[in-house]
Amino acid sequence: MRVQISSLAQMRTFAEVLAENLRAGDLLILSGNLGAGKTTFTQSLGRALDVAGRITSPTFVIAREHPSLGEGPALVHVDAYRLSDAEELEDLDLDSELDESITVVEWGEGLAEQLSADYLSLTITPVFEDEIGAGGEDDTDVTAGDDESEPDEHRIVDLHGHGDTWDERWQRLDASIRAIVTVTADEEDTA
Ligand SMILES: Nc1ncnc2c1ncn2[C@@H]1O[C@H](COP(=O)(O)OP(=O)(O)O)[C@@H](O)[C@H]1O
Ligand SMILES: [Mg+2]
Repeated sequence: MRVQISSLAQMRTFAEVLAENLRAGDLLILSGNLGAGKTTFTQSLGRALDVAGRITSPTFVIAREHPSLGEGPALVHVDAYRLSDAEELEDLDLDSELDESITVVEWGEGLAEQLSADYLSLTITPVFEDEIGAGGEDDTDVTAGDDESEPDEHRIVDLHGHGDTWDERWQRLDASIRAIVTVTADEEDTA
């Protein structure tokens, strides 16, 4: 599904709704260029999951575990940018934490899929100002109306579920996302 995000606040709401649909063992693979919003999204997810510690773009630390402040699962945040191959990712030994945690891997595309057959892929793409509203009918604002549209905060999030668990859970996730943001069909849906 393709999600239209029109502000930073809406990205936060999106992360909150996603968090409500996550549980221990889930893997999220984030893609998108530098500055797209992967870390910002992860910060909102961490807040929604009520985990400890500041979520940052790590300079040296590649994987960091943020334990839950409550009863929930920990958030393991991985930045795979500096990893050159799948072997280096394997060396991080994420498998041991994968089952008990929610694992988010930035720059994980093409690497982190080996960790689990079940994962969510999110690709965040900034939308340039002159493209906004160019989509015709789809620019109707059907959001909760709690925030203004900020041109430089527009993002497209392509979200896909992979594996059996997401086949089963997709309907519920899909419905909860559609309740808060505009969703349009993407290439994969229409293909
Ligand atoms: N809707 C949005 N979602 C995420 N980040 C946004 C959004 N709008 C603006 N931003 C800004 O874009 C930047 C994204 O940076 P960052 O999250 O570090 O990107 P990445 O981790 O993908 O390199 C931040 O400065 C953030 O405040
Ligand atoms: Mg980042």
